[in-house]
Amino acid sequence: MSAGDRLHDLLHKASGAPKSIGPDELERLLSLERREDLDLLYEAAYAVKLKCCGKGVAVRGLVEAGNLCAKDCLYCGIRKSNSAVERYSLDEDAIAAAAEEAKRLGYASLVIQSGEIESEAHTVFIENVLRRIAPLDLGVTLSLGEQSEEVYARWRAAGAARYLLRIETSNPLLYAAVHPAECSWERRVECLRALRRTGYQVGTGVMCALPGQMARDLARDIVFYGEMDVDMIGMGPYIPHPDTPLAAGAPVMPAESRLELGLKMIAATRLYLHDVNIAAATALQALAHDGRERGVKAGANVLMPNVTETRWRRAYRLYAGKPCLDENASLCRNCLDRRLASIGESLLYGTRGDSRHYAAREARPAADYSSGQVQ
Ligand code: 5AD
Ligand code: FES
Repeated sequence: MSAGDRLHDLLHKASGAPKSIGPDELERLLSLERREDLDLLYEAAYAVKLKCCGKGVAVRGLVEAGNLCAKDCLYCGIRKSNSAVERYSLDEDAIAAAAEEAKRLGYASLVIQSGEIESEAHTVFIENVLRRIAPLDLGVTLSLGEQSEEVYARWRAAGAARYLLRIETSNPLLYAAVHPAECSWERRVECLRALRRTGYQVGTGVMCALPGQMARDLARDIVFYGEMDVDMIGMGPYIPHPDTPLAAGAPVMPAESRLELGLKMIAATRLYLHDVNIAAATALQALAHDGRERGVKAGANVLMPNVTETRWRRAYRLYAGKPCLDENASLCRNCLDRRLASIGESLLYGTRGDSRHYAAREARPAADYSSGQVQ
């Protein structure tokens, strides 16, 4: 049998049912390099996206609520030691205005993201924001980092339905290499468990093309998503930020290879998990103008255009080359409409786009859960 036939067989097997391939096969998919093989991979993943998530791309307005951060991740542009950043935090009125803009544009979901802050004042502030925007009836995702289970529960009670917390890498050693010693990989995993217990739709994800990361690590990342039974995935290529220690150290792959790796991760994750929501991260667009459309064609089904007032966008730069710095929310929506039309897709206005994986899990009898047999 030729290598091409074997790839056909592998893609066919993966497309039949979730988790029908293992880590070695995932690694093989992530190591593909020939253009014709990559095209086959993306076509197969896109077909699973159509089958399991339907036509169309779910949309969330992204609010970058502030760049104050207590953490010092070695790769991140808003790390606390970066004194070159102008720090800001939006007040309640500004976040509410961004939420109203998202609603006006026809987005039924909103993501509120900021640096990681753990304090009672911040917890109360977010509670107030959530209660304030509740009448807009948006599906609200929070992406506010590691918190105690009690804080997650308070925000859930105040109206948040989903939470995104990237594990960054499922390899604890690699995690330790790109974070300061006080960051704990175990705590992050525990936070993901707490989020699940608290009733959120839970999202996680990783960066790919990190210095020292192997295809094996990325294959394990995808298996980790499955083991944690997450509902949503947001992942993208690592992009150095010049004011960070990681950028000063190890060299990175060329931009095109990092983009391709990001696309392979989307495709392999779609083929492994089938019905989860997968976002085409903005980092893809930072590497190529059509990066996000290519993400959708590789199996992603969620986009998160920015609705933050443009004056703050430069300050919320996690990596170099962040796109859409000057385009306001309406321009971004029109641009996305056009871009998606070029690939025969479109944004799903007026629908929240909840994870089908979450809906399927919630519909199962509780007994399945406690037996630990549900995968
Ligand atoms: N390149 C790519 N992604 C980054 N993030 C932070 N810094 C970078 C970077 N330099 C991602 C992390 C974080 C998310 C908000 O942004 O995965 O969880
Ligand atoms: Fe913002 Fe294209 S999505 S300008």
